[in-house]
Amino acid sequence: MSIASRKHWSGQNILQLQKAPATEPVSGTLSAQSDQRTVGTVTVDDPRIRCTDVNVYYGSTHAVKNISLDIGRNEIVAMIGPSGCGKSTFLRCLNRMNDTIDNCSVTGNIELDGQDINDNSIDVVPLRARVGMVFQKPNPFPKSIYENIAFGPRIHGLARDKAELEEIVITSLQKAGLWKEIKDCLDQPGTSLSGGQQQRLCIARAIAINPEVILMDEPCSALDPIATAVIEDLMNELCTDYSIVIVTHSMQQAARVSHRTAYFHLGNLIEVAKTEQIFTHPIHQLTSDYITGRIG
Ligand SMILES: Nc1ncnc2c1ncn2[C@@H]1O[C@H](COP(=O)(O)OP(=O)(O)OP(=O)(O)O)[C@@H](O)[C@H]1O
Ligand SMILES: [Mg+2]
Repeated sequence: MSIASRKHWSGQNILQLQKAPATEPVSGTLSAQSDQRTVGTVTVDDPRIRCTDVNVYYGSTHAVKNISLDIGRNEIVAMIGPSGCGKSTFLRCLNRMNDTIDNCSVTGNIELDGQDINDNSIDVVPLRARVGMVFQKPNPFPKSIYENIAFGPRIHGLARDKAELEEIVITSLQKAGLWKEIKDCLDQPGTSLSGGQQQRLCIARAIAINPEVILMDEPCSALDPIATAVIEDLMNELCTDYSIVIVTHSMQQAARVSHRTAYFHLGNLIEVAKTEQIFTHPIHQLTSDYITGRIG
């Protein structure tokens, strides 16, 4: 059975765990001061992305420490952890968005479908089409809804003519669950939509250029619970076509949407496991402390 077709865990047990008394430490070496060995299996059988020993430095600040992690095909991986632990920094490695930060350097190996994305021969523009990104704050272009979607396929040469371009626009908006709401107002500015609609517009924009992986950095933190639920349902549908990596501060959200969860702490990847296991039987004390609200 594919990961995508497996039913997600509903996340009902998190609160029980939060109310539980302190769990016993299972690891003797709990310090997060130095490089940690990640608890759990970081590899998958069929990786889309394979990260090996990734380090990120901002000048002398060591923000991501020797992280290895696979992202599987049709898999949703959630990254959780306290503020400043390196989630966004690591996420940005996956499509070389850190290249845009002056004093930032990345070491280690990151492969997309077996190809080293940091190789000198890699052009970052098509790379970022293959590994698209959705940000915390919806950021539609100051253009019409139609143009927001059509822009990418046009510059990447994905449509031979106007009819094909229109087809891509419609399909992308349908996949992002926005088509029915906006099909009669494609000429309106993208910025005229509600926050939740704008976020789905940004997801449609990413989809329009045929990504293999979609990176989402706290995509729902500016949305109300209803818009959040719509995006979460959408992620569940999108993972039949794409791999998704989501950074979230909401453990309930991680539990609801993801297949595997990765817990970060002080630049280390402390533990990675199936989501249900992380939230019901975390192995590392630091994971347990975070899940139960003792750190964060
Ligand atoms: N552009 C930057 N320049 C210098 N240091 C940075 C930069 N961006 C992040 N850092 C540092 O790198 C570390 C990791 O930051 P990062 O933004 O990846 O954390 P995060 O886990 O995403 O946090 P949050 O949950 O608050 O978004 C922090 O110590 C942060 O101060
Ligand atoms: Mg962040």
